[in-house]
Amino acid sequence: MSLTEARLSAAPLPNDLEAYWMPFTPNRAFKKAPRLIARAKGMYYYAADGRAVLDAAAGMWCCNAGHGRDEIVAAIKRQAEELDYAPAFQFGHPHAFELASRVAALAPGDLDHVFFCNSGSEAVDTALKIALAYHHVRGEGARTRLIGRERGYHGVGFGGISVGGIVNNRKFFGSLLTGVDHLPHTYNRETQAFTKGEPEWGAHLADDLERIAALHDPCTIAAVIVEPMAGSTGVLPPPKGYLQRLRAICDKYGILLILDEVITGFGRLGFAFAAERYGVAPDMITFAKGVTSGAVPMGGVIVRAPIYDAFMRGPEHVIELFHGYTYSAHPLACAAGLATLDLYREEKLFERARALEPKFGDAAMTLRGLPGVLDIRTVGLVAGIDLASKPDGFGKRAYAAMEKAFHEQGVMIRVTGDTIALSPPLIVSEDEIGEIFAKVGKVIEAVR
Ligand SMILES: Cc1ncc(COP(=O)(O)O)c(C=O)c1O
Repeated sequence: MSLTEARLSAAPLPNDLEAYWMPFTPNRAFKKAPRLIARAKGMYYYAADGRAVLDAAAGMWCCNAGHGRDEIVAAIKRQAEELDYAPAFQFGHPHAFELASRVAALAPGDLDHVFFCNSGSEAVDTALKIALAYHHVRGEGARTRLIGRERGYHGVGFGGISVGGIVNNRKFFGSLLTGVDHLPHTYNRETQAFTKGEPEWGAHLADDLERIAALHDPCTIAAVIVEPMAGSTGVLPPPKGYLQRLRAICDKYGILLILDEVITGFGRLGFAFAAERYGVAPDMITFAKGVTSGAVPMGGVIVRAPIYDAFMRGPEHVIELFHGYTYSAHPLACAAGLATLDLYREEKLFERARALEPKFGDAAMTLRGLPGVLDIRTVGLVAGIDLASKPDGFGKRAYAAMEKAFHEQGVMIRVTGDTIALSPPLIVSEDEIGEIFAKVGKVIEAVR
């Protein structure tokens, strides 16, 4: 066999795990003790050796309807047979329009139009670009500044890391976008520790937008983007009244408010979107993950009618927004999305998350008092547990907790820094909630 033939051969090659450069993973540590997942069903992953692993993270905040749902699998299969791909530019297919209408119907107010992409990162960059272009087409092209928040996570595109506020995601990548400023983050352990739901302290931190507006002049600011609940930085629910205050200041100065709901969308906080939970209508909502319950990559931006309308004024043969992706509204993603939304509705999964929230919060708080637990925060079906860092390395204790959880306790958790983040699929039962926190408690004891 020639070298080329060998390279193209379908025969399995010896696999030493080296070829795959894993994202956001310490590759060398992983490859020494791999956590390999072979399949999934319902609330469980199954490791390559067949062990069941209870999913306390909905994969990565995405599998809200649970794993391997027959209805979603069947819809994807049907779609692949019927229409594998349709060009996203200049052509459409029916399920794209149907899914856009269904997603828009879940959003509050006149958030009526949906732009599709393939991930949360693309959704964020799309929303930032729409904000800039919107001001431009209205003759306010001086509005170019974008405001994010410390500790914010908005994916990994250059737009997202520029408005994001996680140091390691930014410091290696040059000067990023210019003209970006950041609000202060909203976490303060002294006033907020062990809070269930939204903390009392912190609404005033939204007023920093006034300071930033005064510094640059409001007419230079295009948009503010925040996560309603900051997830990836360690679960920071918004202080009571904070988002309302941000909305009011944005209104005062004509600044667009973008809520990044990539995690909070599709039931995580007991509502279709956190915007509904908090009674705050943003100008745009970014979404991804839960829209297909993680089964096919998809993201998107829901846009208010006046923003969409502002683009619909030029000659009709001219493209209104010079932006899009080959796989925008991919047929398989749309089919998965429609089947997922059906499941959410038929099984009332958003309402289920809302009903389970108090029990979930109580179960999380049973871990208070365990060695090294500095704070526990809960909101919706989300819990963040801060562990004291080991003197010899930030993040080491939580990383060890994740390893022990997977290998010894049969539970999948997510960690960020020294925080454990839990966000099970919304189909989780009360018994499984008990099991998750019992197992996590054992893990915390083991890494004391
Ligand atoms: C709030 C938020 N925005 C954006 C993203 C990026 O999504 P993706 O990884 O699909 O690009 C994430 C991912 O966790 C997120 O939590």
